Amino acid sequence: MTVTIVGSQLGDEGKGALVDLWGGDADIVVRYQGGDNAGHTVVEDGEEYKLSLVPSGAVRDKVGVLGNGCVINPRTLFSELDDLRERGLEPDVRLAKRAHVIMPYHRRLDNIEEEAKADSDLTVGTTGRGIGPTYEDKAGRRGIRVGDLLDPEVLRQRLEYVVPQKRALIEDVYGLEAGEECDIEALVEEFTEFGRRLSEEDMVVNCGDFLAERRDAGENVMFEGAQGTLIDIDHGSYPYVTSSNPTAGGASTGTGLGPTVVGQGEVVGIVKAYLSRVGEGPMPTELKDDDRDEELADFIREKGGEFGTVTGRPRRIGWLDLPMLRHAARVSGFTGIAVNHLDVLAGLDEVKVGHAYELDGEERLTMPATTERWAECEPVLKEFETWPEVDWSEVAEEGYEALPDAAQDYLEYISDELDVPVYAVGIGPDREQTVHLENPFDK
Ligand code: GDP
Ligand code: IMO
Ligand code: MG
Repeated sequence: MTVTIVGSQLGDEGKGALVDLWGGDADIVVRYQGGDNAGHTVVEDGEEYKLSLVPSGAVRDKVGVLGNGCVINPRTLFSELDDLRERGLEPDVRLAKRAHVIMPYHRRLDNIEEEAKADSDLTVGTTGRGIGPTYEDKAGRRGIRVGDLLDPEVLRQRLEYVVPQKRALIEDVYGLEAGEECDIEALVEEFTEFGRRLSEEDMVVNCGDFLAERRDAGENVMFEGAQGTLIDIDHGSYPYVTSSNPTAGGASTGTGLGPTVVGQGEVVGIVKAYLSRVGEGPMPTELKDDDRDEELADFIREKGGEFGTVTGRPRRIGWLDLPMLRHAARVSGFTGIAVNHLDVLAGLDEVKVGHAYELDGEERLTMPATTERWAECEPVLKEFETWPEVDWSEVAEEGYEALPDAAQDYLEYISDELDVPVYAVGIGPDREQTVHLENPFDK
């Protein structure tokens, strides 16, 4: 059985929390795309873990796999592993030999390019982790793969081809000085050492074979999506996107298990009860039109702790956007959803959702395909009855019926519009602060 967890909005929907919740029934948790641009939070009995690369199942001692669709910075990986070990966990993480490696020059180029775009509306507001440049090299057939780290000669050969190109880009195109990120000898030495450590700790696998064997043995696999549908390179708000496919199709291409395997399982969209966005790009329901909007956004940002896990940037805030969710549900074929952060909206004077868009005087329920047209959309807002602050621990214990009536109406509206059931409702960051309706592993 497989369960795929997909972000249905702009990232940071609380995917880590649900991977942790249902991960109790998984044997293996697999990241299928992205890299250390992700920041997934798990809170267990008040103890908070922020994970960038190590799959969130580590907190429950599950085997974690970084699939071939991921881009891996070994410096981040080993530092995260060391930190988790210091905190008493024993993470068992395997890396796909086919996964690509984020090299120091990728990170440098990510930052240089963002800087170069700074005065234009092309700035993406990336996490600066080198994600885009690494996927560029993958598509350009000049990337370094995890398997290459195991053979110093292959590694050297590849670096001797690619590094002079990066040096020329930095020096001749951007007029800057190349530094140690372009020192081939130093790179060979450092990354061969990473390869040695990966072999020694038996961390490298043929991802597809490894997962297929474990599935044949009857194990449950959870695919942990990072980022979200609207920052998917194909289905998101291009060019304000990341460079991979967080949507469910990525779970197949990014692991080596067929689409039928992913499709036979459950695909759960993680929905934040409002919107947050870190980085640039349109957001039709953004709360920014007047002082009242900004006050509301500030309140939600503070209450929901809406500051980037990776970069600490304040997140932009908006009302829930239904055309966006309809798009996400179709792209990934959601079989269910989890709605998080319902507690954050409690006690507000008003709760609204963008039910539809108005574009060229017409009302539409779905998103246009180009970002320019999306930016022209005006939300058609629908107002909901507000719900009060309640004792959320009590609600978590008593279950769905204990949620305030207005909050139940809100959830039922979303479920009806998307035509999928709600499997869980987040009412706080801790594993215990969840109203659990169905476990996708029991379906
Ligand atoms: P992810 O990237 O999708 O895993 O989400 P992040 O971890 O980046 O951001 C979600 C933040 O909200 C984290 O600080 C979580 O601990 C927290 N969180 C998750 N679910 C809930 C919820 O239902 N209510 C509240 N108040 N916080 C939540
Ligand atoms: P999780 O998994 C929210 C955003 C960046 C930027 C764009 C491209 O925690 O939900 P990148 O560094 O990937 O090239 O940046 O994507 N972004 C995220 N936003 N959550 C994330 O991950 C994100 N990962 C990337 O802010 O706008
Ligand atoms: Mg996050």
